[in-house]
Amino acid sequence: MPIDPSVIAALTVGVERDPDNSALRLHLAQLLLQAGQPADALSHCARILVQQPDNRDALHLAAESAQAAGDIARAVGYRRLYDALGGGGDNSQPVEEAPRPPADLSLPPFPELAGDFSLNDAPPPPDESDRVRIGRGRGGAEGDTAWETEEPKVTLADVAGMDEAKRRLNVAFLAPMKNPDMRKLYGKSLRGGLLLYGPPGCGKTFIARATAGELGARFVSIGLSDVLDMWLGQSERNLHEIFETARRNRPCVLFFDEIDALGRKRSLMRESAGRDVVNQLLAELDSLGGSNEGVFVLAATNHPWDVDTALRRPGRLDRTLLILPPDIPARAAILRYHAQDRPIENVDFMALAAKTGGFSGADLAHLVESAAELAMEESIARGSARPIRLPDFQRALKEIKPSTRPWFDTARNYALFANEGGVYDDLLTYLRNQRLL
Ligand SMILES: Nc1ncnc2c1ncn2[C@@H]1O[C@H](COP(=O)(O)OP(=O)(O)OP(=O)(O)O)[C@@H](O)[C@H]1O
Ligand SMILES: [Mg+2]
Repeated sequence: MPIDPSVIAALTVGVERDPDNSALRLHLAQLLLQAGQPADALSHCARILVQQPDNRDALHLAAESAQAAGDIARAVGYRRLYDALGGGGDNSQPVEEAPRPPADLSLPPFPELAGDFSLNDAPPPPDESDRVRIGRGRGGAEGDTAWETEEPKVTLADVAGMDEAKRRLNVAFLAPMKNPDMRKLYGKSLRGGLLLYGPPGCGKTFIARATAGELGARFVSIGLSDVLDMWLGQSERNLHEIFETARRNRPCVLFFDEIDALGRKRSLMRESAGRDVVNQLLAELDSLGGSNEGVFVLAATNHPWDVDTALRRPGRLDRTLLILPPDIPARAAILRYHAQDRPIENVDFMALAAKTGGFSGADLAHLVESAAELAMEESIARGSARPIRLPDFQRALKEIKPSTRPWFDTARNYALFANEGGVYDDLLTYLRNQRLL
């Protein structure tokens, strides 16, 4: 049956939005192979295998794709890995007999697979579990809305580097929360939330979660752009439900991710519907009021200039905190985090961190994956597994450029020309220090 290109296009978008969803990626790879694009199928399989070297379905499909792409040596390599892992097990799909490789290309088995380091340990999934899903059934049946809260295990001690951001977070937010007596003494109210802003992938969500952990509070994260459409029409009830959930679970940090979606989408959709959502959110924020309810509001955005101005008024999201690209200690920690559970040999992460200025957390994750991919490719080509080494990182580094620069190019204009009330003073200071002004 011919493959509908629009299905492939839709799946490609899905995979871009949810890059770690290996089941979705595998499905896309299968369709690409059927649609006569084995090289693309193969690159998706390789991406899955970097995360899950023992994913037998991906190995099997990789072997088929490599074969179809005419890369017999690679096909043989994947096939051997697949066989070494026990071939078609209980939960893998039935495997067709792969074509026999030509005799001269057959490789010795992978003796090192069972050796000192294991290729079988998939790294833990990146901490993307922060998204709270609306409802169990997307049909949105009445009363079916379940807001999940989590108990964060991370605290600020897990946030490497970023001393200035941590200091400000402490002064503006944490210290008054933690010290009720001091608060009383100085008459400081608990009203109002904190807006984290900065370039994408630099730790806003991570720091929000760590803030909850620091307060010993539960954490509810709401990805606004994902759920906004579902809110239309029933925004009042859903938003109220979210705040009620937070009250029931207090102390609780309510984290509104992509808060700019409210401002941006409002102009794109029916004015009144969008207004409803914003008004309801304002009402809920105001209802938290000065009462010591133990519900703390954090929000994050990459586009603070798109955030509805009404949300920025005193008592609402009235404080801002700039989250800059990770500094050297933070970069080293992020690299180490993504490298854990992978076979690494002689890599000095601090030295690598020093060479990756401007890289976001996401860029650094990509760097580790690319290095792993290079090591794996070579392992497969030569038929025996070897660890990831510094030259792999150096090669990968040539391909990957920091992604935060375009954000600063945009942000500069707002910092220069729309700095009302000095909201972007921190950003201006940073731009000046970096000679980006
Ligand atoms: N200082 C840090 N120490 C350790 N890990 C970090 C640090 N900063 C960021 N990370 C890691 O970097 C990754 C990206 O961070 P995060 O998802 O929080 O960024 P973000 O600013 O919320 O991105 P986006 O704008 O895409 O929502 C996460 O996996 C996080 O674990
Ligand atoms: Mg985030």
